[in-house]
Amino acid sequence: MQIESTTLWDFPRQNYGDKPHGNNKYNGVTPAFVIWNLLQRYTKEGDLVVDPMCGSGTTIDVAKELNRKVIGYDLNVVRADVIKNDSRKIPLKENSVDFVFIDSPYSDNIKYSDDEKCIGKISCEKTEFYDELEKVASEIARILKPGKAMGWVIADQWIKKKFTAAGVLLWQRLEKYFEPIDIICLTRHNQTSNTGIWHNRAMKFNFYLRGFKYLFIMKKLEKK
Ligand SMILES: C[S@@+](CC[C@H](N)C(=O)[O-])C[C@H]1O[C@@H](n2cnc3c(N)ncnc32)[C@H](O)[C@@H]1O
Repeated sequence: MQIESTTLWDFPRQNYGDKPHGNNKYNGVTPAFVIWNLLQRYTKEGDLVVDPMCGSGTTIDVAKELNRKVIGYDLNVVRADVIKNDSRKIPLKENSVDFVFIDSPYSDNIKYSDDEKCIGKISCEKTEFYDELEKVASEIARILKPGKAMGWVIADQWIKKKFTAAGVLLWQRLEKYFEPIDIICLTRHNQTSNTGIWHNRAMKFNFYLRGFKYLFIMKKLEKK
């Protein structure tokens, strides 16, 4: 298993399954290839993978395809193999999991469900948002086996002419429980800045070309 700095282009491309992964109609669905990359690098067959906020189940599908064991939780249960659970308390023993993937809410920009416990109802402009995500982080650290890794996707916020560095603010909390392996910049196919239309808009409206998500890859901090 590799626990080292990685870039998406230094890993040999292998066959990537042709079955559906998750549901791309689900609000905030994670691109399956991100999870596929992580599982290829940080897990082996038979390892236990957990996603505490698995939404439409992309992690479940990718993990199964790669012959990993998998448990997916969410408050919003949209399929039978997702277990309803608030990720601030994960019903697993400490030191029992080989890898955790999580794509958490980034703010209150998307409605996932009517569940009042949904962290996606809290704005990332509030300290409370990071307090609640830190509870999830602490649970992830508790269930991970010593030295094992996790991947966390989050984005910054730019709305109503106000920027909030949600990624950096979360990272500061994560550092209490994990040490860095890598930070990957995720861009989405239709949002790549490298197109004429975005270049022209940037010139016309005088803005920087931006728009990406962070993929934080970290490993459980060793107790001194
Ligand atoms: C960005 S989506 C995850 C998408 C998922 N990776 C997929 O591919 O479909 C964030 C998820 O966090 C869930 N969520 C928010 N607060 C939660 C909590 N306290 N406990 C468990 N899940 C929560 C939401 O219901 C939502 O499904």
